[in-house]
Amino acid sequence: MWARAAARARPTAPHPLHPRLLATTAPRQTHPTPPLDPNPAHPQPAPAPAPPSAPHPATAAPSPSTTHFGFRDVPNDLKESLVRGVFSSVASSYDVMNDAMSLGIHRLWKDHYVSKLDPHGALRCLDVAGGTGDIALRILDHARTRYGDRDTSVHMVDINPEMLEEGKKRFAQTMYHATPQIAFDVGNAETLSQFADNTFDVYTISFGIRNVTDIPAALRTAHRVLKPGGVLSILEFSHVDNPVLAKAYDLFSFNVIPELGHLLAADRDSYQYLVESIRRFPPAEKFAQMIRDAGFEVAEEEPFERLTWGIAAIHNGVKL
Ligand SMILES: C[S@@+](CC[C@H](N)C(=O)[O-])C[C@H]1O[C@@H](n2cnc3c(N)ncnc32)[C@H](O)[C@@H]1O
Repeated sequence: MWARAAARARPTAPHPLHPRLLATTAPRQTHPTPPLDPNPAHPQPAPAPAPPSAPHPATAAPSPSTTHFGFRDVPNDLKESLVRGVFSSVASSYDVMNDAMSLGIHRLWKDHYVSKLDPHGALRCLDVAGGTGDIALRILDHARTRYGDRDTSVHMVDINPEMLEEGKKRFAQTMYHATPQIAFDVGNAETLSQFADNTFDVYTISFGIRNVTDIPAALRTAHRVLKPGGVLSILEFSHVDNPVLAKAYDLFSFNVIPELGHLLAADRDSYQYLVESIRRFPPAEKFAQMIRDAGFEVAEEEPFERLTWGIAAIHNGVKL
C-alpha cells in the first residue's frame, strides 16, 4: 500500500497517502502471520546474565567526534571500516546465522514488511544495505506474483562488496538475473553519490541503518534520492518495553547469539557487535523523530509498527 502510493504520487501534488498517514491509530504491536510464537526473546534458558558493565544502549551519547561501535566509543572515521570488517567476516555465513539467531523469525518480519509496503506498478526501488538480497528478492517476487508486474526494479546498494557478492550469487539462481529488474552497486548510505536527486519511488533499508555512522546523514540522503511522493521504509531492531521480556531477550542476546556465532561461523566478536549495536540504536519514538527531522512526513498517531514485542519495528515516511 505504501509503494502504491509512491507510484501514484506526482511531484506537484501532495502525496495521496498523506491524509491517511496523519489519521491513523495509536502505535500498535503487530505480529506478522503466522503468529510469532517461537520468539528469540524467550528461547532456551540462557547460561549467564548480560555483562554488568553493559551501558544502557540508546541513552549514552558519544562525544561529537566519536560514535558507537557496539558498546565501544570509536572515532567517527573508524566506524565505517570496523562495520565493513564485521560484514566481510560474516558474509558467507550471514543467511545461516540469521536463521539460527532469530529462529527463522527474520523471514516472517521481512515477509510482513514487504507485503505491507505492497510494491507494484513499475516502481524504481532502492534497497540500501541490501546485503544478500532478502528484501530485493521479496520486492520483485511480490510485484510479480501478486500483480504480474515485471517492470518494478530494485537497485541494491551495500557498503560491503562481499555481502553484495552473496546477493549476486543468489540472484543468479533467479529469473531476475541479468534483467533490468535488478542492479548492484557498492555505496555508502550516507552519501549515495552515484544517484541523482529525485530518482526513486521507494527506498528500503532492512537491518542496515543502525550500522551507519551518521544516521541523520543517511536519512537526509534517502530524502534526496526519493522522488516527491516517494516512500521511505525502514525495518530495524528496536527495544522491548516489557521489563520481563526485555530481561529474557537480553539473556538470550548476550549469551546465546555470540556463542552461536562462535559455533556456526567461528566468529564470536562480530556477533557480539551485532547484539550491542541493537542496544545502541535509538528507541522507536526517537527514531521516528529523526525521520521527521530529515524532512519526511511521518504519521502522528502511528509513527511505527512494533514487531514481536518491539524486538523489531517498521518505520515509514513520505517525501512530500
Ligand atoms: C544486517 S545486514 C542486513 C542485510 C539485509 N538488508 C537484510 O535485511 O538481511 C546489514 C548490511 O548493512 C550494510 N551496511 C553497513 N553500513 C552501511 C553503509 N554505511 N552503507 C551501506 N550499507 C551499509 C552491511 O554491509 C550489511 O550488508
